[in-house]
Amino acid sequence: MLKIGIINGPNLNNLGKRDKNAYGILTLKEINQRISHAAVKENMELTFIQSNFEGEIIDSIQKLSSQTDGLVINPGAYAHYSYAIADALRDCPLPIIEVHLSNIFSRDEFRQKSVTAQACNGQIVGLGYHSYILALYGLQTMIEKE
Ligand code: DQA
Repeated sequence: MLKIGIINGPNLNNLGKRDKNAYGILTLKEINQRISHAAVKENMELTFIQSNFEGEIIDSIQKLSSQTDGLVINPGAYAHYSYAIADALRDCPLPIIEVHLSNIFSRDEFRQKSVTAQACNGQIVGLGYHSYILALYGLQTMIEKE
């Protein structure tokens, strides 16, 4: 059974109340239920983390690096400037896929760069909660090929 950590960064706890055009109407709990549903079918075990704090996200990456087989991370706005999270991702030996609900490349200029994606194996953006589910399939393929 593959163990995958799903890390969500700042303000993602407020999904459902945030800009619905960019992020949709689902709450994080509803999104996590949909991800869990897909994971059960693939015989995967998920650990969900959400934090609004950079240091807590780094602690989670470090902790999950020895407890799981792969990570999915939506760093929220930290994606655009947190070199500390990028370094934690670089130090993590697991396959990692960065996801975003919105298409960051079609939005504000500051969102069009991700310093954290540079430290990941891949990135999936713009597909709403499907970004997370496709990331699970991506990790599965990468881990099974190892
Ligand atoms: C986001 C995109 C970020 O630019 C933004 O700060 C978020 C959400 C996304 O999932 O589309 O908080 O990561």
